[in-house]
Parts: sequence; structure tokens; C-alpha cells
Amino acid sequence: MSLELRGITKSFGALVANDSIDLKVETGEIHAILGENGAGKSTLMNIVYGLVAPDSGEILVDGQVKVIRQPSDALAAGIGMVHQHFMLVPVFTVAENIVLGHEKINPLGFLDLDQARIAIKKVSDEFNFEVDPDARVEDLPVGVQQRVEIIRALIYDAKVLILDEPSAVLTPQETDELLNIMKNLKAKGTSIIFITHKLREVQAAADRITIIRRGKVVGTAEPTASQEELASAMVGRPVQLNPDKSAHSVGEVVLDIAGLTIKDTTGRSLVKNVSIQVHAGEVVAIAGVQGNGQSELARAMVNLEPHIEGSIKLVGEEIIGESVRQALHHGIAFVPESRELDGLIGSFSIAENLILDVHDLDPYARGVQLFPKVVNEKAVERVSEFDIRIQSISDPVSSLSGGNKQKVVLARELSRPVKVVVASQPTRGLDVGSIEFVHERILSERDAGRAVLLFSTELDEVLALADRIAVMYRGEIISIVPSTVSREELGLLMAGVVSEGKAIA
Ligand SMILES: Nc1ncnc2c1ncn2[C@@H]1O[C@H](COP(=O)(O)OP(=O)(O)OP(=O)(O)O)[C@@H](O)[C@H]1O
Ligand SMILES: [Mg+2]
Repeated sequence: MSLELRGITKSFGALVANDSIDLKVETGEIHAILGENGAGKSTLMNIVYGLVAPDSGEILVDGQVKVIRQPSDALAAGIGMVHQHFMLVPVFTVAENIVLGHEKINPLGFLDLDQARIAIKKVSDEFNFEVDPDARVEDLPVGVQQRVEIIRALIYDAKVLILDEPSAVLTPQETDELLNIMKNLKAKGTSIIFITHKLREVQAAADRITIIRRGKVVGTAEPTASQEELASAMVGRPVQLNPDKSAHSVGEVVLDIAGLTIKDTTGRSLVKNVSIQVHAGEVVAIAGVQGNGQSELARAMVNLEPHIEGSIKLVGEEIIGESVRQALHHGIAFVPESRELDGLIGSFSIAENLILDVHDLDPYARGVQLFPKVVNEKAVERVSEFDIRIQSISDPVSSLSGGNKQKVVLARELSRPVKVVVASQPTRGLDVGSIEFVHERILSERDAGRAVLLFSTELDEVLALADRIAVMYRGEIISIVPSTVSREELGLLMAGVVSEGKAIA
């Protein structure tokens, strides 16, 4: 099935998010859409899926104009979409989630649990997915949850599948599996619209590439193009994909984690007796496959983990037992793994979110009195420095594109005087130009003598920024290696293989 967009235009107030976009996706092709944060990619896909109404323009399926006012219209026309934020109910099984979807948006008629199991099996067999219909969604790894979303779209008989940043939360292995699934779908004639900021994936999977900048289609690129060519076509200037890391001189120990154990509410240890020191002027990266205790370790740095034993010292002072605010005021910059959960207050303005850390302090406030002018001046400064694409600093932060939300968190956390920077997945969802900026910024924090503790599942990021790499596996640090380690060796360590094929039991 082919999909054609003609003259799609959508404005939000004065901002033209989509400006007369023409795009054609042929039957059985993987069509990548590349564009900076805020370029208008998600808006365009939401229009195609019936979540956002365009101001003008037409959507054609196999040459026929289709009116799509809601997702059920899109599904009926053969268009499915997998969102970056999954729409599954965690406590339900896979089959229950699929039935639930049918009840809500139902172009095909009611489906009971048994029929759902049969339908799941049929699709899984056809496309080679491993998914247990009776598994509870919350027990499944993220990559499998995403497969459930894809299965749901396929059960609706989607012939055009939209994937909006599907790999942003996947591990490298899960990403490889996703790329294989995409190729299988393509071989069976499904067309795929693929949005990603990871150029390696574009090179690996795309048949054609369309580039969008500031709401307009600005060109196409060949999948044979180099990452440098793709990056500069997208951003409109040359981008340095690998930051320059100067030689560094390390100082005293700034962050001293000793014997740290973190348990969940049932008493199971998620982090086991972890000890590591980070010096002034040093980037230590914690690498690992998601789910090996890194998230808990990161959250412990600002006391977000209640069941904790051991010690975390900041320049000699114990911070365990303090409030989150106290920990932050001690001089920790904290970029949380989930900007939506821990980083931002969606209904607050961009300006307010940019000063959340200091909103009650001089010069922004004295006692109960707030000084909005000072807040706004600071916000405007940070927006321009971090190139955050906004209309007005008084808009709610929830109206920003994914990558621009991330930049709000980074601008706030990397702009205040601190001793330690703790950053989890700092570039998740950022375009290549913004990644370049954030990487330079993190290295300049290091060069200015800050201790940086970086949590990242991106091997490239770890290798580019770290001075030392600590690999976490099943709650423990199993190895600390210099940044000269090879990609392959690091990958093996992350899989728990410590030496010569010897796996950790
Ligand atoms: N509901 C809304 N209200 C106001 N502005 C919006 C709304 N939705 C999107 N925008 C604006 O439209 C522009 C395009 O956003 P969109 O989410 O489409 O970008 P994107 O290309 O998907 O970016 P990213 O790579 O960061 O996900 C942004 O400037 C965004 O702030
Ligand atoms: Mg987007």
C-alpha cells in the first residue's frame, strides 16, 4: 500500500509546525524521516494517524483521498502507529491489551481473549516474533513490549506502519531485533515510516530518506550517504559526531560511593555492594544493559531510593538520608533518566521548569515573594544557550517536542554551579546537532574540574565521553576499564562475559 501526503500544513499559534509537506511512501519501503528536534516529524505522523487535525492538505492511500479524523479512521485505512510512549496497560497480559485496544478503537468488530491469542499467534508466526500472549506486560523487557505494540497494529492489518523514535528506549540488542522485524515486515509488503535520530539505524534500514527542517521538506538523502553527510543535511551545517576529548588532569575524590546496596520493596537487592570513586576532572561512565541496577544507582545520588545501605559522600560529606532538595543544594546536577517522570512538570511553563531547582532562592524569590522578571530573564538566556526551539517561555513545557523537553532539563541542570554532574541517558531523543552540543558541554564540565558520573546505554556515547568505564551487570560493578576498551569488548562485558568467554553465573 502506498501513502501520499500532499500539502500538509499545521500551525500552533504563530508557529508553523508543518509547512505544506509533500511526501510519498511506496509499497514495501522503509522510508526514514530525519529532522532536528522540533522539525515537525511527530506532528506530521500524528496528523497521518488522526491524532492531530491538519489546517490543510490531503492524505492519499493507494491514490485515493482518505479523511482521517481519529486513529480508528487511520486503522481502517490500513495505517498503524507505534508511539514512543507505549499505550499498554502494564498489569494486563499481552492478549488482554490487544482485546482492550479493540474495544476502544474498533474497526474490525469485537475480539475475545481466545481470538486475540489466535490472532497474536498468527502474526507472531508469520513475522517470527517471540511473544507469549499470556505474559503480563510489566514483566516483559521494553523491546518485547514494543513488539506487542507492533503486533497490535498488524492485527488491525496495518499496511503502513509508523514508528516514531522506536529505538530511543531500546538496548542495542533490542534495536537489532527491531531492525530485523522491520526488514521482515518490508519483505511481506508492509510500508514503514521510520523516525529516528540514530544515523547508524537509518543507514542500516532505510530505502529512502526525507529530511525535514523547521516544518518543511528540505531534501532527500541516499541510504549510502555517510553519517557526516546525513548529519549536515539534517542540521544545515557540519556536525562533529565525535567530540574532541582533551587530556585531563584528575584532582581529589569528589564523589565517593562505598558499599552501596539498594533493595526494592520486597527486599530483593537491585544494587549490590557497589563502590566507586569519581575524581574532580573525570568522567566515569556506568555502562550496562538496561535493568542491571543503573537506574536505581543513579536515583540514589539524589536520594530517590528509599531502601538503601552504604555511603555516598560528596567532598567528604554523607548525603544519604538527606532530602532530594538538600542533595541538589549540596552541589549535584541531576539529569534523570525519565524527563517526563522526574525531570519536568508538564503543566508548568518552560520558564518555571528552567529554574525549578532554584525557584525559592535569591534572586528569583525572597520569602514568599517571587520575581518573575528575573525568572524570565534567566529562562531566555538558557533557551538561547541551549538552542531550545520554543515559541514563548510562558508556554507549558508539555507543548515542546521530545528533544526540546530534554534540552530544558539539561539547560537547567548544566547551568548551575555544582561539584558533581550525574547524568542518565543525557542525549536520549536529541538530534545529532544537539548531541554534539551536550557532549561538548559535559566535557567542559569535566575540564572545569567537575566530577561527572554518566549513565548511558549508548556505547558510542560511553566511549566518546568516559575516562573510565564501570560495567554494571546484575546489580554489581563487574569491571572497570579505561576508555580505550574496544566496542566489542565493552559489549561482551555488558552481557556479563568477563574474560575469554567466561560468563558470570
Ligand atoms: N500541541 C502543541 N501545541 C503547541 N506547539 C506544539 C504542539 N505540538 C507540537 N508543537 C510544536 O511544533 C513543533 C514541532 O514539534 P514535533 O513534536 O512535531 O517535533 P519533532 O520533529 O517530532 O521533534 P523531536 O525530534 O524533538 O521529537 C515544535 O516546535 C513543538 O513545540
Ligand atoms: Mg518527535
